[in-house]
Amino acid sequence: MLLHVPKVLGVEQVAECRRLLDAAEWSDGKATVGEQGALVKRNRQLPELSPVARQLGEMILGALARHPLFFSAALPLKSVPPLFNRYEGGELYGTHIDGAVRAVPGSSHFIRTDLSSTLFLSDPSDYDGGELVVQDTYGEHAVKLPAGDLVLYTSGSLHRVNPVTRGARVCSFFWTQSMVADERYRETLYRLDQTIQTLRGKTGETEETVALAGHYHNLLRMWSEI
Ligand code: NI
Repeated sequence: MLLHVPKVLGVEQVAECRRLLDAAEWSDGKATVGEQGALVKRNRQLPELSPVARQLGEMILGALARHPLFFSAALPLKSVPPLFNRYEGGELYGTHIDGAVRAVPGSSHFIRTDLSSTLFLSDPSDYDGGELVVQDTYGEHAVKLPAGDLVLYTSGSLHRVNPVTRGARVCSFFWTQSMVADERYRETLYRLDQTIQTLRGKTGETEETVALAGHYHNLLRMWSEI
């Protein structure tokens, strides 16, 4: 899965993020990766437990909780508190894979990383480079989205961030454990849900759309683990 989720944050919310992030203290991004990641990662991050990260992270997860496309595609059970990174002056993150499980900072809990999200907080015209490049069986996909938009992708994909050669790229990123662990089942549910929505838009609610919604929920009941 590689999905563009538009308009997670509005213009004013992005501006609020940027105002707080531009005034924040950034630290070396190597602090939150394992050995392989540390070899290829050159950027800066907000410390995981910083108050600004907490405040903005809650805003982002709150916005996503009301976003029907994100819910349909991710079927989120829980997410780690969002992190924030900044790349400038040639900084980059070479090809790597995200760890399969991740500790939730400040707790004794872990989540399984089924899905990765990157939420763009810089306007694409403000920087050169900085594409998130995700590899899948169809090859490489370079992603660079408007501020406020998010890309959702399978955490099992190799990916990198190209060097930022002008300006600064500021993003939020986080991992989500899905109610449906198996990607094949999750994608089937996503496609079925989208088809039902399209059909409902064309015909209104009918006996058939109600029946299809029933099939969707019965599959979700079979395949979800909560
Ligand atoms: Ni990564």
